[in-house]
Amino acid sequence: MSTADTEVPELLQELTLEEKSQLVHGAVDPTGTATGYLPGIERLDIPEFRLADGPMGVRAGDAESTAFPASIALSATFDPELAREQGVAMGREATARNQDAVLGPGVNLIRVPHCGRNFEYYSEDPVLTAAFAREIVGGLESEDVVATPKHFVANNQESSRASVNVDVSERALRECYLPGFKAAVDAGAGSMMTAYNSVNGEFMSDNRPLVTDVLKEEWGFDGYVVSDWFGATSTVGAANGGLDLEMPGISLEEMREMFGMETGDDDEDQVLAESEEMGDGMPDPTNTGQFADPLVDAVRSGEVPESRLDDMVRRILRQMERSGEFGDTSDDSRSEESTHQTLAKTVAARGAVLLKNHDALPLEDDTDVAIIGPAAQEARIGGGGSSEVEPPHEIPTADGIRDRTTGEATVADGIEQVEQVSFFGDGESETTESQPEPSLDEALDAAETAEVAVVVVEDAATEGADRDTLQLPGRQDELVREVASVSDDTVVVVQSSGPVELPWRDDVAAIVETWYPGQSDGDAVAAVLFGDVDASGRLPVSFAQEEAYPTSGSAATFPGEDGEVHYEEDLFVGYKHFDVADDDPIYSFGHGLSYADYTYESVAVVDERTVEITVENTSQRDGREVVQAYVRPPGTDDDRPVREFAGFDSVRVPAGETVTTTVDLADLAFSRYDDSEGWVDVDGQFELEVGRSAQDIRLTTSL
Ligand code: BGC
Repeated sequence: MSTADTEVPELLQELTLEEKSQLVHGAVDPTGTATGYLPGIERLDIPEFRLADGPMGVRAGDAESTAFPASIALSATFDPELAREQGVAMGREATARNQDAVLGPGVNLIRVPHCGRNFEYYSEDPVLTAAFAREIVGGLESEDVVATPKHFVANNQESSRASVNVDVSERALRECYLPGFKAAVDAGAGSMMTAYNSVNGEFMSDNRPLVTDVLKEEWGFDGYVVSDWFGATSTVGAANGGLDLEMPGISLEEMREMFGMETGDDDEDQVLAESEEMGDGMPDPTNTGQFADPLVDAVRSGEVPESRLDDMVRRILRQMERSGEFGDTSDDSRSEESTHQTLAKTVAARGAVLLKNHDALPLEDDTDVAIIGPAAQEARIGGGGSSEVEPPHEIPTADGIRDRTTGEATVADGIEQVEQVSFFGDGESETTESQPEPSLDEALDAAETAEVAVVVVEDAATEGADRDTLQLPGRQDELVREVASVSDDTVVVVQSSGPVELPWRDDVAAIVETWYPGQSDGDAVAAVLFGDVDASGRLPVSFAQEEAYPTSGSAATFPGEDGEVHYEEDLFVGYKHFDVADDDPIYSFGHGLSYADYTYESVAVVDERTVEITVENTSQRDGREVVQAYVRPPGTDDDRPVREFAGFDSVRVPAGETVTTTVDLADLAFSRYDDSEGWVDVDGQFELEVGRSAQDIRLTTSL
């Protein structure tokens, strides 16, 4: 938009100090649909503005919205075009629900396998994360909905997320943790949400070096920076540090109502105590109203320059204007929600990763199946917390499989349901009412009689808490072992937020990791098991034994000691760690089997940042292959990872055909960040490796 077209400068002239403050902190939404709400200024025709949670669907009060698969399932497709489509779909649903901004995507790097929110994030790798961030943001913004990448930055764990200080090198920030956010900014994100934690001694809500110097000045971000909910820790520090909007910004009294706390007693300590019962991951809810009267006072006293407040308001008004809030606010966009449901199923099926397959999959159309495990009885929509979405309908895993087979299908729980954890509630599980006692014997009988036993297992993960262990909760490991002892054709479907230990992996015939597949769970899982699609998902995170991860060694690296967590592994996150460690991962980054067979024919260098890779599908089945390119830097720099993921493409390869695909290589893989010089290109000859995972290299060449 040209400066001539904008009404923002005039509006700024008209606004009183109090009105300005009203535009930079939230209020209670009278419609109860928004997660964050700005009432606007009626006198000047500045409209209301609504922010709704994401990132796996639009959470707008009681309204139903498409529940897309977990973000980690989306990135497991290794196909950012699907992210673009999902961004567009969520943008349309947001508009149809009268929401102006979506609080997503979550682009924090998956540093800790236990992190309770890994299902909301994309990957342990910055290049993969950036590719997905870029497209989902582009999709949302193309629908004139403000995207809000979060949580800027280094919110890589939920334990003490509101208080922990992250001690991380500038280089690791630049090379690992910031690229996802930078890509989102370059793709036109209109907003950015700060993290609760501190980074290098300063809360992110007040972090001038990162928020003002890097994000706004260096990257040229011209949108508004919003706090995480109750995450603004000060008035003057936050305003001067670069925070533009405080959320939820409501009063203590309103906050009590929102959280159903007792009213009447104005004692802050009581509010605090009640919030503490919600756990270690809960921010201090008395952190509120920082940008209400206290900001007005700070401007009056000169502690915050009025020009800073004007800048805050300008940034917010510009996004309102850009997203079409000014003038005609009528919405003629159709939301095309049936297409969104198809998309949700496509993403879930394409994101499923075939970890192991000993000729058990795909299933024949008429296979007699025993579907075992309490997790099979429900659709796994997502994890706990602010990303929870109410879908219009949901397909339990067992239903999808039962509908797909023309053979017999029997269903048995075998063991009791896994307790899910909830960040909002008091930790009580959602138990299904008056279910009969599950019988392991019954499940084993079913497994023995059927041709194939499909055991569905799941983890429990939520915002606000990390997983204590990578083991599956409850008696699920025992269930898998027991079933495997009676059936040679045991197929395990794993529905998890991130890496889990699979201690029975040698005893079963096949394992499919489906993450949280969202509302289309059953349909998508059936499509993969019966081979309606090629198995084309790949791991965006390394799967390893719990103790093999770099964050497992000491409390100082996770979950922190004395209020600090030290990123001692520096750049060596995920596969970069396993490339130099003694332990091998169980399944490496990029791993995923196919139903088709591929031969990697050749790689040709087009130019410094482009290569052409030729693969042949030597099987009788049409397939989809994820071609992966890694680069190895020249020389022996111990500070540098052995190899870095540089580019990829998910490409359809029909049966018997040969396809050549062009893969762009990311600059990030060729440069490094030096504390004094900034970004420097690494000179010399790089080796390019092309393969099926970080540990399955098929072709190499020099660059
Ligand atoms: C989460 C954010 C979310 C916000 C609003 C916070 O607890 O960290 O991701 O957008 O709540 O629900």
